[in-house]
Amino acid sequence: MNKLFVANWKMHGDAAFAAQWAADFRPPPECDVAVCPPFPYLQALRAALPAHVAVGAQTLSAQAEDGAHTGEVSARMLADAGCEYVLVGHSERRPMGEDGDACATRVAAAAAAGLTPVLCVGETAEEFSSGRSEEAVLRQLQELSSLPAEAPCAVAYEPVWAIGSGRTPDTESLSRMRERIRAGLISQTGAKGGKIRILYGGSVKAENAGLPGRAGMDGALAGGASLDAAVFAQICRAGGT
Ligand code: PGA
Repeated sequence: MNKLFVANWKMHGDAAFAAQWAADFRPPPECDVAVCPPFPYLQALRAALPAHVAVGAQTLSAQAEDGAHTGEVSARMLADAGCEYVLVGHSERRPMGEDGDACATRVAAAAAAGLTPVLCVGETAEEFSSGRSEEAVLRQLQELSSLPAEAPCAVAYEPVWAIGSGRTPDTESLSRMRERIRAGLISQTGAKGGKIRILYGGSVKAENAGLPGRAGMDGALAGGASLDAAVFAQICRAGGT
């Protein structure tokens, strides 16, 4: 199973930035990569990147059918624009109504369109300090229950307190959380749960790029650091194959 590295540009960039990023990015061989720009740059980025580098979206509509849903972008449209992946339930979106059942609906919509959902899970600072991290994460994993048995997916463990803060879990606690997530996936989905890639995200940078690999994660999700194509390539290399 190749490791998977996801670049989440969040609301950054423009057409010129996307073109330059694609020109600068030198992906290491033997790992899977997905780059998630804002919607308007998806197609240009798809055209500019080599075929083995996937493009993904940062969210999608919960509406599966075309219709009067102003401002929404469906899974079908994302697939049509060349996406292979889509983030679901990023912690910056959960407070905007993308939580619980809304995530489960999006996971199902993504799978129905042939996209691989990357479900983002992670405890808040408050859950972390009150010792409820595992409980919070295992609850969010239930959002995969709508995924058909044969559909691919990935999970990104992103403690909310680590995102954009410069703080990260230590290797041991990250490794322990990975084991809990793995066990949760297996109890939820059976043998398939052993093969779902579990990524780490939250303040992954060049300086700590070895952390996900040391903790046995199957890859990483980088936000701010992924805006620099060379740094993101370094993160992919450090995470191993
Ligand atoms: P960060 O963001 O790498 O800037 O902390 C990660 C994320 O939000 O996915």
